[in-house]
Amino acid sequence: MLNRALSLMVLAAFGLTGTSALADGSVGQKGFLKPVTDAQYLEECGSCHFAYQAELLPKRSWEKMLSNLHDHFGDDASLEGPGLEAVKAYLLNNAGETSNSKRAIKLLQSTGDKTYLRISDIPYFKREHHEISPATLARPAIKSWANCAACHPDAAKGNFEEEYVKIPK
Ligand code: HEC
Ligand code: HEC
Repeated sequence: MLNRALSLMVLAAFGLTGTSALADGSVGQKGFLKPVTDAQYLEECGSCHFAYQAELLPKRSWEKMLSNLHDHFGDDASLEGPGLEAVKAYLLNNAGETSNSKRAIKLLQSTGDKTYLRISDIPYFKREHHEISPATLARPAIKSWANCAACHPDAAKGNFEEEYVKIPK
């Protein structure tokens, strides 16, 4: 009885603040992006680097990237058939334009009329990261802006909030 009363109170509190409980027990916030759950996307696009949430770029960026995967930042990331179709469906159905996350919305707005292939080239991204020196970025545990999860340990949960950032030594 007590448990039930407690969970009703918790539910009411979430309802009031507009937050919601995620499956992993963390509390979702408006800033959070949707964790990637698409197994095929994780496999095809998460083997060389962090599996970027589709919300981080607009549709036009993903379309452009997918049209030239054989020359993907100097690597061959070619896909064809069902693998390509699955990745395309995930990226286009969840791109920046579909997002409720305030971080993703700021990124999208900041693209203006440009079609960026790198999230890390978008002006909002650069503003948020301008305090990090080239020497810090060059640390072996980081090396590249593409390595989001090095400094955002909960990036896979969609959490890029400032207070969770931890820069490796
Ligand atoms: C064979 C390895 C490989 C695969 C597979 C691969 N990538 Fe990449 N990707 C790279 C490399 C290398 C870079 C550049 C990394 C860097 O700058 O440090 C990159 C960079 C990126 C970036 C830019 C990150 C930034 O700086 O903002 C995005 C976005 C991206 N990849 C998306 C994808 C997607 C989507 C897929 C699946 C279709 C994919 N990648 C598959 C190798 C790969
Ligand atoms: C070298 C470490 C580092 C890397 C790599 C990095 N970030 Fe960050 N990021 C930070 C720091 C530090 C901040 C907080 C900046 C501030 O507000 O003081 C931040 C802030 C952010 C914010 C704004 C958060 C807020 O609360 O306003 C977003 C969104 C973000 N990062 C996304 C990314 C994405 C996406 C990637 C990968 C493409 C990435 N970051 C790579 C260190 C990093």
